[in-house]
Amino acid sequence: MQANRGEWSSKIGFILAASGSAIGLGNIWRFPYIVGQNGGAAFVVVYLLIVVIIGLPYMLGELALGRTSQKNPVGAIDAITPGSSWKGVGYLGVITGLGILSFYSVIAGWTVGYIFKMLSGHPGSFGSFISDPLQVIILYAFFIVITATIVHGGVSGGIERWSKILMPVLFVLMVGLIIYANSLPGSGKGLEFYLMPDFSKIDGRVILAALGQAFFSLSLGMGLMITYGSYVTKSDDLFSSAGYIVFFDSLIAIMAGLIIFPALFASGLNPEEGAKLVFVVFPELFMKMPAGTIVGAIFFLLLSVAALTSTISLLEVPVAFMVDEKKVPRKKIVWIIAFATFLLGLPSALSQGASEFFTNFAFLPQRLADPDFLSQMSFVFGDFSLAFGALLLSIYIGWIWGAKNAALELAEGSRFFKGFFTVWIFMMRYFIPIVIFIILLNLFGIFD
Ligand code: PHE
Repeated sequence: MQANRGEWSSKIGFILAASGSAIGLGNIWRFPYIVGQNGGAAFVVVYLLIVVIIGLPYMLGELALGRTSQKNPVGAIDAITPGSSWKGVGYLGVITGLGILSFYSVIAGWTVGYIFKMLSGHPGSFGSFISDPLQVIILYAFFIVITATIVHGGVSGGIERWSKILMPVLFVLMVGLIIYANSLPGSGKGLEFYLMPDFSKIDGRVILAALGQAFFSLSLGMGLMITYGSYVTKSDDLFSSAGYIVFFDSLIAIMAGLIIFPALFASGLNPEEGAKLVFVVFPELFMKMPAGTIVGAIFFLLLSVAALTSTISLLEVPVAFMVDEKKVPRKKIVWIIAFATFLLGLPSALSQGASEFFTNFAFLPQRLADPDFLSQMSFVFGDFSLAFGALLLSIYIGWIWGAKNAALELAEGSRFFKGFFTVWIFMMRYFIPIVIFIILLNLFGIFD
C-alpha cells in the first residue's frame, strides 16, 4: 500500500460503497422508464441476462486492474504499460465521469425539489416545475455543492455511516410501496406488462438499451470500479463482493418496477412517458395514499441520498486522477472540478422547457435520443461512452495486461473464483469485447 492512499476498512465497507455508487437514479428513475420505452417484461429478461453474463465478469476485470495497480484509471494503465497510448482510455473514463455528473446532478436536484413539493401537499405539474429556470438551477447547484462538500471532507466518515442506516430504510419503504401499489384496482395489468415477456419486442435497439442500462446502473465502463478496487486489500474476495454488488443493484431496480408499473396502470398512464415517468407516477401514487405527503417526502429524501452516494463516486474519479497524477491538493481541486461540472450541466438544467435553444438541441439522430440537451448528454455519456469505454477496457484487460494476469489477481483472496478461472478468461478476451462491438456497430445502423 502506498503512503496516503486510503483503504476500505472492511469487506462490507467496500461492498456498501460500491453498491452506493451503483444504486441511484439509474435504478429508480432510469430503469423503469427504459423498461417502459422498450416494451416491458422482455426487456427485463434481456437486461438481467446481460447483467449476469457481461456486467458481472466485466466488473471483475475493472476491480482486478484497480487492486493490482492501486491507482485511478489513468494511473492504473500507466503503471502496467508505461507510456502507452492506452492511457487515453483512462482519460475517456475521467471525462465520462464529468459528463454523467453534470446531467445526473440536474435530475438529483429535481428529486430534492420533490421533497418540498410533497410536503406542500400539492406536487403540481412536473412540466412546469422543470421548466422554471431559477428553481431548477438553485436545486442543481445545491446538489453539486453537497457532493463536493462530502468529497472534500473525505468519503469514509459521514457518508458511509449515513448510507448504512438510510439505504436499509429505503429498502423497507420500497417493500411497503410495492404492497400498496399492487393493491390498487387496475394494477394487475401493470404487473403483466412488467413480468410477462413478449419476446417479439426484442430487436437490436432493445439489446443496446439493455446493455447501456446495465453499464450505467452498475457504474461500469468509466473506471469507477478501477478506482474503488484500488482501495481493496489483497485478502478480500473480489469475486463474491462483485456478486453482492450486482445482486443488490438488480434487486433495487426490479423493486422500483414493481412499484411503478402497477401504480402506472392503476392510474391509466402511458408507460412510454420517458424520463418524466417516475416524477409523474410516484407523486400520483403518494397523493392517493393515507399520510402520502409524509411518505412521499421521505421517499424523495431517500432517493436523493441514493443519488448522492452515486454523485460522490462520479466526482471521486476525476478527483483521484488529479490528486494521484497531477499532485494537486485534494481540497482545492474538488471545488475547481465541481464548478466546471456545474457550468457543463447548465444547458441540461435549462433543456426541459426553460430555454427553447437547449430544449431542441438535437445533434444526434432522433432514433437514439430525445432532442433536449439533457437526453443528448445522457446518450453520449450515459450510454455510448460507457459502452465504448468498456469495449476498450475489456480489450486492454483481456489482451494487453492479459486476462491470465487479471485472473491471478482475482484468485487471490477468493476460493470460489478458481472454479471459474478459465471461463472468465474466455469471457474477458472474446465474449465481452465481441458482444459490445456488435452492439456498437448496430448503434451506427450497420445492420439496418
Ligand atoms: N450507477 C449509478 C446509478 O445507477 C450512476 C453511475 C454511473 C455512477 C457511472 C457512477 C458511474 O445511479
